[in-house]
Amino acid sequence: MAKSPPSRPTAKSAPGEQSAADEILRRKAQQSDDLAKAMPWNDNKSLEHGFSQGTAPAKGVTAQPESPLPTGSTVSEANTSEKTADQAEEGVNAAHGRLDRVRADSGGRHLTTNQGVAVADNQNSLKYGLRGPVLLEDFILREKITHFDHERIPERIVHARGSGAHGYFECYEPLTDLTRAAPFQAAGKVTPVFVRFSTVQGERGSKDTARDVRGFAVKFYTDEGNWDLVGNNMPVFFIQDAMKFPDLVHAVKPEPHHAMPQAASAHDTFWDFVSLMPESTHMLMWVMSDRAIPRSYATMQGFGVHTFRFVNAAGESVFVKFHWSPKAGTHSLVWDEAVKISGADPDYHRRDLWERIEAGAYPEYELGVQVFTEEQADQFSFDVLDATKIVPEELVPIRPVGRMVLDRNPDNFFAETEQVAFCAAHVVPGIDFSNDPLLAGRIHSYVDTQISRLGGPNFHEIPINAPIAPVHNNQRDGMHRQTINRGRVSYEPNSLGGGCPFQAGAAQGFVSVPARIQAEEEQGKVRAKPEKFADHYTQATLFYESQTPVEQAHIAAAFRFELSKVTVPAIRARMVASLRNASEVLAREVADGLGMEEMPAPMPRALAMPAKPEVTQSPALSLMARPGDGTIKARRIALLVAHGVEGAAAERLQATLSAEGAVAEFVAPRVGKVRGADGTDLEATASLENNPGFLFDALALLDGEQGVATLAQDGHTMEFVKDCYRHCKAILAVGAAQTLLDMAGVSTTTPAGEPDAGLVLADDEDGTDAFVAAIARHRHPERETDPPVV
Ligand code: HEM
Repeated sequence: MAKSPPSRPTAKSAPGEQSAADEILRRKAQQSDDLAKAMPWNDNKSLEHGFSQGTAPAKGVTAQPESPLPTGSTVSEANTSEKTADQAEEGVNAAHGRLDRVRADSGGRHLTTNQGVAVADNQNSLKYGLRGPVLLEDFILREKITHFDHERIPERIVHARGSGAHGYFECYEPLTDLTRAAPFQAAGKVTPVFVRFSTVQGERGSKDTARDVRGFAVKFYTDEGNWDLVGNNMPVFFIQDAMKFPDLVHAVKPEPHHAMPQAASAHDTFWDFVSLMPESTHMLMWVMSDRAIPRSYATMQGFGVHTFRFVNAAGESVFVKFHWSPKAGTHSLVWDEAVKISGADPDYHRRDLWERIEAGAYPEYELGVQVFTEEQADQFSFDVLDATKIVPEELVPIRPVGRMVLDRNPDNFFAETEQVAFCAAHVVPGIDFSNDPLLAGRIHSYVDTQISRLGGPNFHEIPINAPIAPVHNNQRDGMHRQTINRGRVSYEPNSLGGGCPFQAGAAQGFVSVPARIQAEEEQGKVRAKPEKFADHYTQATLFYESQTPVEQAHIAAAFRFELSKVTVPAIRARMVASLRNASEVLAREVADGLGMEEMPAPMPRALAMPAKPEVTQSPALSLMARPGDGTIKARRIALLVAHGVEGAAAERLQATLSAEGAVAEFVAPRVGKVRGADGTDLEATASLENNPGFLFDALALLDGEQGVATLAQDGHTMEFVKDCYRHCKAILAVGAAQTLLDMAGVSTTTPAGEPDAGLVLADDEDGTDAFVAAIARHRHPERETDPPVV
C-alpha cells in the first residue's frame, strides 16, 4: 500500500554517464561542505568565560543549509510508505504531539498480535489433536502470556498510591512584571495540565483514607516546556535537608521485618525517628490535624512547599511560594470515619475524583502566590530556605493569579496516571529554585528514581510526559527510544547540521538567577544549617494556636491514637517531652490520653532564644477559614427508604438535592425497586450493607409508618444513623422517621444544651431548605464528644 513510488530515479545509467543517484550523493557532499564552510570557526567560543557572560549566554551560531539534503540521514527520505509516512516537517518532533496520536480505539476492529497479525481464535491454545499437548509453535499464546508476565512495573518509592486527571490552568492577569513563565503571560491564557494526587506511605493498592500527607503534583504543559509543581497538601515538610529523606521514609514505611503496618504512621519506627528530629514538630501538627484525612481531593489545598523564584524578562527575581485553594472549600473526614471508609471503600478518593469529573462537577482550585524580595526575606524571624517553615499569610498576603479546572479523566490509568513522571527539576524560563537544601535533593531524586521505575531512559517520550513544546537536543539512544532523529549530527558545536540545534541564548532560553551569597563568612564548603533553622517550635506553636478548639481536640486525639500504637514507652515520653516545647496544653492532653502519670521534662531546645515571631495567630491556618462556595455540589446524600415510605415526597427531595448539584441516592435494605405507600416506585441504587452511612455526607430519614418500621428492624439502620450522627453530618428526619433517631440514642440538642443545627426535624417537606443549609456547612462539630456518647 505504498502511497507513491520512489521519487528518486533508480535506473542504472549508461557507462560514462553520471547516474541520478550519483548526482544526488554529489550534491549532498557539496552542500555538506558548503554548510561546514559557512561556519569557519566557533564564533561563540570566546563568550564562554567570565561571570557576566555566564549570566547572559549568547544565542548559538547557525548556518542555513541550501536544501534538506546535507542535514538528512539519507537521500531516500522522500520515498514514503504507510509506515514511514510523509517526510518529517522541518523543526518538528512528531513524537511530542497531542495524545490523540497514541489513543487507541478498538471499536469495530479485530484482535491482532503485537505484530498486527489478525488473531483467528482467542479461546484455545494450539494443540496436537483435541486432547493432545500444546505446541511450542503457538507464537500467539506465547506472545500474549509473555506480555502479561511483564505487565507490572515497580511502584513509586513514595507516593505509590495516586489518582490523576487532566485539566487546564487559566491565568487571571499578566504577571510579566514578576515572571516570564509562559502560563502567566496574558489574561485568559490557558495551559493544559495533568494532576496526580497521592498518599505518601502506602503501597500502590493501599487505602485512600490513611492518615498521611497528600501529594498534589501538577504538570503544566507550557508552550516553553514542561513545568512540574510537585507539591503536597501541607505547606511544610518533616525535614530540612535532603540528606534525611531516606531516613524519614525508612522510618514511616512498613517496618522491614514484618512489613507492617500498611499506610500508617502509627508505629514505633516513625515516632522513634520524628521524636529525635525536633524540626518535624511543625509538620507533625499538620499531619495530626484533619488535613491528613481530607474528605476529597477536590476539597484540599496544595502547596509548592519550598521557596521558589519568579524571574522576569529583565532577569530580575523575587521569591515566591505557591498555594492552591479549592473552590469547594477545605473539608476533611474525622478519624473514626476515615478508618471505617478504608474498609468499605479503599478507593474513596479515587472514586470521588472520577465521579465528580464524569458528572461535570469539575474540581477547581485557585492558584495564589506569596511574592517577597530577598531583602524582605532576610528580615523574617525564620529562614525561607527552611521547608519546615511557612510564610504566614498575615506577613505576606496571597495574591490570586489563576485557576485550575480538572475536567477530564484519563483514558487509561496505567498509560497516564501510573506512567506520569513528575520532577521537581522541571522548571521553565521565569521559574527558578531557591537554595533550599531539601529542594536541591529533590532536583536530583525524581529523574533518578524514574529511570528504575520506568525501565530506563527516554520515559520523557511516553505520551503523558512528552511536552507539547518541541524537543530538540543531541541526546540519543537508550531503552525504548521513540524519536527517530534525522541526520548524522548529534553533537554541538557542529557545522554539518548547520549548527543546529543551537543554544537558545538568554533571550529565549533558561538562565539560572545568578544568586550570590553575600556574607563572606558564609562562603566555603560546609555541612551545616543556618542558625534560624534551629528554631523547631515557634511555628508548631503558631499552627496549634491558630486552630479552632475542635481542630485542637482532633490534633490531641490523633497524637493519642498514634502514640498509643507505639510499643516502646520511652518513645512516647520523648515525643511528649518535645510537644511540651510547642504547647503545654497539647502535651498534657496527649500525656493524659496515654495514661502517663508524670510529665517528662521538656526536651532541651536547639535554640534557647528564638527570634520573636511576626505573628502568633494565623486564622488562615484553620480548615474553617475556607468554607468554600457555600454550595452542596458533589456531596453524597443518603435518602434511607424501605417499602411503605412516602414515595412522592422522597422523589421530590431527591430532585431538589440533585438540582443543587448533590448526588442524592436512595439507600434501602436491598438494592432495586422500593414501593412507596402511595404506589410510587423508587429505585434504590445502594443498600444498607453495600454503602454504609460513613460513605455519605448527609442523611435523610423519610416519612412513612411502614417504611420506618421496616428500617427499624434492620440493625444496619442504627449503625447508619449512629455513624452519621457521630461524624457530625447533617441529618433530616421527617415525621415518623424521627423514631429512628430516638432508637439510635441521638439527642436533639448539643452537649452544651443548644439546638443542634445539623439535625433538621420536620413534619413535612418544609425541612428541605434547612437541610440544604446544614449540608452546606459540611459538618456540625458542636455535637462532638470525646469519647462519643453515640
Ligand atoms: C529530599 C526530599 C525528597 C525526595 C528525595 C523525594 C523523592 C521522591 C521520589 C523518589 C518520588 C517518587 C517519584 C516517582 O517514582 O515518580 C517522589 C514522589 C513525590 N514527591 Fe517527593 N521527595 C522529597 C520531598 C518531597 C517534598 C518536600 C514534597 C512536597 C513538596 C514531595 C512531593 C512529592 C510528590 C507529590 C510525589 C508524587 C508525584 C507523583 O504523583 O507521581 N516530595 N518523591
